[in-house]
Amino acid sequence: MIPFIDLNRNQLKLHKLWLQKVEKHLLSSNFIGGKEVEILEKTLSELLKIKNVITCANGTDALQLSLRACNVSEGDKVVVQDNTFWATCESIFNVGAKPIIIDIEENYASIDTGLLEDTIKKYKPKAIIIAHIYGWSSNNLSQIRELCKIKKIPLIEDGAQSFGTEYLNLPIYSDAFLSTTSFYPTKVLGAAGDGGCVFTNDQDIANKIRKLANHGRNNQFQHDLIGWNSRLDNLQAAYLNLALEVFPNKLKSRRKAQNQYLQKLMVPQLQSSQDFFDNAYCQVCLFENLNIRKKVISALEKNNIGYSIIYPTPISEQKALKGLTIKKNLKNISREFCKRVLSLPLFPYIENKELNLIIDIVNSAYLD
Ligand SMILES: Cc1ncc(COP(=O)(O)O)c(C=O)c1O
Repeated sequence: MIPFIDLNRNQLKLHKLWLQKVEKHLLSSNFIGGKEVEILEKTLSELLKIKNVITCANGTDALQLSLRACNVSEGDKVVVQDNTFWATCESIFNVGAKPIIIDIEENYASIDTGLLEDTIKKYKPKAIIIAHIYGWSSNNLSQIRELCKIKKIPLIEDGAQSFGTEYLNLPIYSDAFLSTTSFYPTKVLGAAGDGGCVFTNDQDIANKIRKLANHGRNNQFQHDLIGWNSRLDNLQAAYLNLALEVFPNKLKSRRKAQNQYLQKLMVPQLQSSQDFFDNAYCQVCLFENLNIRKKVISALEKNNIGYSIIYPTPISEQKALKGLTIKKNLKNISREFCKRVLSLPLFPYIENKELNLIIDIVNSAYLD
């Protein structure tokens, strides 16, 4: 059996070190905020070459904090792409705004730049969220950043899946106006629970986000803003600080696995453009149609090999949107995409013999 994700490979040492830290912090009752959070934010700031790093409770909150910091509220319109995890869109509703859902372009499964320009002209959105799905992003990322700057529309980059990715030789977050990540355990940098983070070089936005995530607090009993509690706890920060020490090896192992798939699979696969040094968050087969995908899925199931369909339903077709009037600018690309994608196991320290077995099974079923 090969699972889709195995988070336990080579983790024993990290677990032991974390338990020692947990004991230390328990004895000193050091639970919220504190030294570990400070160290984490400083390390991330240096690693990702970005001035402000604000940790928070999870990746969805990171998006909501970003939207609130850009003054998005009741009745505002926010652009979101049709192919992403539901939380990207959910965050818009949670600050009282409404999404305008636009389609992706096929080659990189990222927001369609033409439709985005068209939507900006037509609806003048208050903010735009793009999601760096599968670990990479639009081939036109620089152009999208520039467009938003010119139009003075804040661009929020949902980077929950792109930790470790480099764009034009820099960490992908470093040149973004505002970007976010999630430390959900299965992410490239995952915690031992929930966690998230906002990245920005803008000092005013950073100050506001820090306040919003801590009850809008100025000091202990003074509240300048209506925020909420979205603090990362010290024990998760302690885990992440340890995880960052082994992060380069884990990333290397993911990239090696991704390269094996790219070299040996006969099935067409999604790839990032040359501008990205891909973090290998996710492998994506792109089948010609549903029937070929079905054939490969039955071979995987027969051999007890995990897989995932990311995503089976576009945002625009989620049940939660039923009965709501939502503006859309779609070309049917995301919907068709959902019928064709399939992701194979890709996690740190997956072994060569496992990869070869998966590749053989998928190739035989595909060519059959
Ligand atoms: C693209 C994307 N956005 C947002 C999130 C939400 O992150 P969290 O689960 O930490 O709230 C995720 C996590 O799965 C994600 O993949």
